[in-house]
Amino acid sequence: DGVVEMNTKKLAAERAVEAIEDGMTVGLGTGSTAYYAIEKLGERVKEGLNIRAVATSKRSEEQARGLGISIVPFAEVGQIDITIDGADEVDRSLQLIKGGGGALLREKIVAARSDKMFVIVGEDKLVDTLGAFPLPVEIIPFAHEWTLDALKALQLNPELRMENGELYITDNGNYIADCRSISIPDPASLHAQLNAIPGVVENGLFVDMAHTVIVGREDGSIDTII
Ligand code: A5P
Repeated sequence: DGVVEMNTKKLAAERAVEAIEDGMTVGLGTGSTAYYAIEKLGERVKEGLNIRAVATSKRSEEQARGLGISIVPFAEVGQIDITIDGADEVDRSLQLIKGGGGALLREKIVAARSDKMFVIVGEDKLVDTLGAFPLPVEIIPFAHEWTLDALKALQLNPELRMENGELYITDNGNYIADCRSISIPDPASLHAQLNAIPGVVENGLFVDMAHTVIVGREDGSIDTII
């Protein structure tokens, strides 16, 4: 009926890319929202913007290379100026769940090295309390049954992620345990409990890492939460 649905992800992504300036080192996130940011960055590079980038996944690296964005080796990067990445859930105090796309470990490594992390989301990702979205926990394959036991002991309902009938394997050769139907009133404390389990490599809680959250809204407006 002629009504065009608002692409809230693209809206937020393109606003975030406006913050990128000549000479910056940029961290490229992963997922369907980060995809739009990388596309826009590619356009700006074709128009003459001079930046270098590191990527949080093989997918994003390939996309960036295809657009002529120069990807530099980690050893050549001191600090990253801005990382632009999506999230699965965001609360009002800028705490995040990430890793729905499976790239949480590399995303966290890159975010930790960034002066600023810009998080780009559609308004449907904003929540009062984190946890409705399954929390991804990256675990080592060795004795993963024991790691799952430890997650069960924390009442986290872990389920190994599957893809096409097979165990999902991360870019780092690990498994993902998705923890469903939990409520996370205190992300910092759960984050610490999870990472204290020996078989856990990382978890999808990003605590005090986001600098700015850019929210694309259905009415076409953009909110910025700092
Ligand atoms: C990838 O591992 C995730 O952390 C994504 O950044 C997150 O899932 C957001 O993805 P979408 O932008 O596709 O919703």
